[in-house]
Amino acid sequence: MSYSTDKPVKKVTVNTLREMKARGEKVTSLTAYDHSMAAILDRAGIDIILVGDSVGNVMLGYDTTVPVTMDAMLHHVSAASKAVRRALVVADMPFMSYQVSEDEAVRNAGRFLKEAGAHAVKLEGGTDVAHLVKRLVSIGIPVQGHIGLTPQSVNTLGGYGLQGKTASAAMKLVADAKALDEAGAFSIVLEKVPEQLAAEVTARVGAVTIGIGAGAGCDGQVLVTYDMLNLCSMDMQKPRFVKIFNDLGSQALKAVEEYAREVKDGSFPGPEHGFRMNLAEEAELKKELGQD
Ligand code: KIV
Repeated sequence: MSYSTDKPVKKVTVNTLREMKARGEKVTSLTAYDHSMAAILDRAGIDIILVGDSVGNVMLGYDTTVPVTMDAMLHHVSAASKAVRRALVVADMPFMSYQVSEDEAVRNAGRFLKEAGAHAVKLEGGTDVAHLVKRLVSIGIPVQGHIGLTPQSVNTLGGYGLQGKTASAAMKLVADAKALDEAGAFSIVLEKVPEQLAAEVTARVGAVTIGIGAGAGCDGQVLVTYDMLNLCSMDMQKPRFVKIFNDLGSQALKAVEEYAREVKDGSFPGPEHGFRMNLAEEAELKKELGQD
């Protein structure tokens, strides 16, 4: 899956993703907020790199995604997108960048493509944002929808609980997914919904469904990379849907402790990490310093 850096790579487009859905090939997605992580994900063959507004929790120290601004998102999308050769880069539209008016939403979405190098935008909501999605798609901005648990609405949802638990709540989500699909969204993130519902939605829409806490029946999966590498605040409780694929957080902690120990006991830096003046210059310096 990973590509060789010395050969041309075939870029992932919205059509590639639709073709993958049609032949039943799973789509991979992870988050990145910076150049180095985006380069690793791209090299590993991840299909969609999402510069999520989870940057607020993971990188900026906020409790929710609500305070994340357009400026912060543009900064991170621009850093990440410069590292990407193959993946489709999706920029998450932050809270209040698409709710005030459609014209403002269009302008903000366009900035991610024009100024920050993204290939598509993601926004939260279903039927309520379908008209906006249609307009964005019509002017050439691919849109990924996001329904189920929508973290920007944490204050109205009252927390981060499972969504679509009852038959009527599930039917509302099916209607939201259909509205996004009809509006032309190329993909829909389904967050923290029952697996049966996610599988039903997946079968009913042409858009590529990407699950997070939505079971294996989606067309693809996304996780917050810092969660699956255990690099998030290490004492923080992880959601049940996160699997830690490698505990880099513990490894980093050990490495930093070892560095501190070596600096304190003088074993780092060693001669191999430093630079020496040649002997003639050293002798001259000593003379200048009156040390000869
Ligand atoms: O912001 C984000 O990282 C997301 C994913 C969790 C889907 O929206």
